[in-house]
Amino acid sequence: MSDSKQSFALAFIGAGGISGAHAGAVKDSGGQLSVAAVVDPNAEAANKLAAEHDAPALGSVQALFEAIDRKDVSVDGIVICTPPTVRVGPVREALQRGIAVLTEKPIAINAEDAARIAEIADAHPDALLGVAYCHRFAPPVIRMKQLVSEGKIGRLSRFENAFAFHHPPMSEKWMSDPTLSGGGSFIDTGCHSLDLFRYLVGPAQVVGSVFDSDWEGRGESSATVLVKASEGDHAGIGGVILAGWLEPERFTIDLVGTNGSLHYDYTKPTELVYRPGIGEPEMIEVESHEVRFTRQLIHFARAARGDTPRGDLADARDGLGAAEAVDSATKAAKVI
Ligand SMILES: NC(=O)c1ccc[n+]([C@@H]2O[C@H](COP(=O)([O-])OP(=O)(O)OC[C@H]3O[C@@H](n4cnc5c(N)ncnc54)[C@H](O)[C@@H]3O)[C@@H](O)[C@H]2O)c1
Repeated sequence: MSDSKQSFALAFIGAGGISGAHAGAVKDSGGQLSVAAVVDPNAEAANKLAAEHDAPALGSVQALFEAIDRKDVSVDGIVICTPPTVRVGPVREALQRGIAVLTEKPIAINAEDAARIAEIADAHPDALLGVAYCHRFAPPVIRMKQLVSEGKIGRLSRFENAFAFHHPPMSEKWMSDPTLSGGGSFIDTGCHSLDLFRYLVGPAQVVGSVFDSDWEGRGESSATVLVKASEGDHAGIGGVILAGWLEPERFTIDLVGTNGSLHYDYTKPTELVYRPGIGEPEMIEVESHEVRFTRQLIHFARAARGDTPRGDLADARDGLGAAEAVDSATKAAKVI
């Protein structure tokens, strides 16, 4: 592994939509991060991202690890930005070589593969595995957690979170094909919500779920899921999670307590609203959520080098927790 003064060299596996957010983090890192290789079977996508970072483009995961073994490329960490069918193999190959991995959410296509990844991570405790649950690095979310622990809203009594938007073309994308995504809108954005619940409240146990599907043979286009915290300081506290692809846009988190509530709307990035039980709302200025990808990737690199503890970076157990809850909600929705 390179020393702390050198930039942390990343290989990207997957050069589609979300790789742009991570590549943006590399550019914003002031030289702390760099791109050593880009892998994508879609040569156009791989070449474009690789060219922007003056890095080699490769056509397969196997080609990447062969190049690493030949020492043609030197890689400190790998960012996996593929659909969730491509996780177990690259995680195993990387961790057994001592290379750190930050994998996009969900950690896997189902709980079975998530458990496999957790086993691989347990077998290689010296190589960092992070799951890119980026909202943990959003300053407003961190502030909400602090304010709750300081007693600003009294005793926490409910979590509400909607990640929903109107995007009919989703019916044609891999995200709505359960064989490639694991489901529909709930595994896509609901896994973020489950991880937010875990971070802010506690591990989520699914109490009930209702899925609605507008598209024959595709995953759910909307999901309504009730969870409760299975353990921790807020054990027993409930959460309502709304995920949808065919509804007006809402990206909101509400934490409700016995003395007030906190409301964050991602479309008003610097405003956190505190409402007392009775009285006028108060606006708390916060740093925008938009820095979350950069904060996450720099933190991942520093933790991989041992320069900082892993802290709030989601680990394989966090990823497995969300994957198990997605599976439970999907099974419960089929029964209802
Ligand atoms: N953290 C977030 O907020 C966030 C947002 C969007 C997407 N995501 C997640 O990121 C992942 C990717 O989503 P996306 O929107 O970028 O999808 P995308 O379809 O835009 O890009 C995926 C890329 O992976 C490539 N790919 C497929 N198989 C591959 C393989 N075997 N090796 C290398 N590359 C391969 C595809 O060719 C494509 O270019 C998903 O798991 C998704 O849930 C996270």
